[in-house]
Amino acid sequence: MSGQAGKLRVGVVFGGRSAEHPISCVSAGSALAALDPDRYEVVPVGITRDGGWVLPDPALRLAIVDGVLPEVTGGTAVTLVGDPAGRGLVRLDGAGPRIELDVVFPVLHGAYGEDGTIQGLLEMSGLPYVGSGVFASAASMDKEFTKKLLAAAGLPQGDHVVLRDAAGALSADPSLLDEAARERLGLPVFVKPSRAGSSIGISRVTDWAQFPEAVAAAAAVDPKVVVEAAVPGREIECGVLAGPGGGPPEASLPAEIRLRPGTDWYDFTAKYLADAAEFDVPAGLTLEQTRAVQAAACRAYLAMDCQGLARVDFFLGAGPDGAERLVINEVNTMPGFTPISMFPRMWAASGVDFAGLVDRLVEAALAPARPAVVPALDGGARA
Ligand SMILES: Nc1ncnc2c1ncn2[C@@H]1O[C@H](COP(=O)(O)OP(=O)(O)O)[C@@H](O)[C@H]1O
Ligand SMILES: [Mg+2]
Repeated sequence: MSGQAGKLRVGVVFGGRSAEHPISCVSAGSALAALDPDRYEVVPVGITRDGGWVLPDPALRLAIVDGVLPEVTGGTAVTLVGDPAGRGLVRLDGAGPRIELDVVFPVLHGAYGEDGTIQGLLEMSGLPYVGSGVFASAASMDKEFTKKLLAAAGLPQGDHVVLRDAAGALSADPSLLDEAARERLGLPVFVKPSRAGSSIGISRVTDWAQFPEAVAAAAAVDPKVVVEAAVPGREIECGVLAGPGGGPPEASLPAEIRLRPGTDWYDFTAKYLADAAEFDVPAGLTLEQTRAVQAAACRAYLAMDCQGLARVDFFLGAGPDGAERLVINEVNTMPGFTPISMFPRMWAASGVDFAGLVDRLVEAALAPARPAVVPALDGGARA
């Protein structure tokens, strides 16, 4: 215990280089407020949009105030000690003692936060951290590999095509997909950057004439583009937490996002700017539907080798044969923690309040020794 009076010292890292910087700040504000000061000594650590690590001004408000989004702009410059013997932060000006940490909570969304990069840095530094490791973070961030791993585990998903070097393919052949592929996918299709978030770079294409422009928009975010058949149905989300004491993962009650009439899909504006959606927490589902969603969410968590937490997003609708079909859309390894975010609200509805949630996350981060090498091939890999 590095904190005062035997408290755990938790570094809460937020902001970051992705477009989701302000959302991360708001998520961190909620997490900081939920960490019990009797148990934890918290060290807030900001990452600026340029990637600079700072101890921010304590007056920094990590909330949306009068419609203004928070941002990490400066503070005391620090750096993470890469040597595991260091276990913490040092000030770049050389002043003050080393700031030892017991555990890190990277409340970061998107690139350089949720994609395995900071997880790698923390592994190198020998610091335990909340959430998934390098591989699960990187794989869950990448829609192509999410689909491959879910398919390998027999989990249901929609039809799709992956376009590598989409911009190059576009200039070689502007039609990009042959007739057979177009027929198979049908319209509309969703055209997405493989590695992004917050609906950035995604288009819903209702006419093949719009397709090249949609591919170009997605390729501007990620050279790898995924083209998905539209999956009809309700948008359902489910939270997963590592089981207490290293037990099997547990799922929250699911929630539903209901888009208001006139909103076709959950794009960036609908997510953050417009009053375009209503949220049912918990979702109005039958007991069997709830159980099916929860079981699929836990299986997806295990298939992606997640740790600590995940939010698994689904479509629940009718398949081509008319029978009910549950399709996984994506797995988020660091879901939003803002006061209106679905993950904490789903857990609150399931009897785990915000303080209990962060306790469980910190406990899970400290509990298992993260294997530095691949576990032995005895079938005993952690579950
Ligand atoms: N295949 C699909 N069928 C129907 N709607 C989709 C499909 N893919 C995405 N959407 C809509 O677009 C939104 C954003 O897509 P998503 O893959 O979740 O991107 P992000 O990772 O940016 O959140 C979804 O919440 C949903 O409203
Ligand atoms: Mg999504």
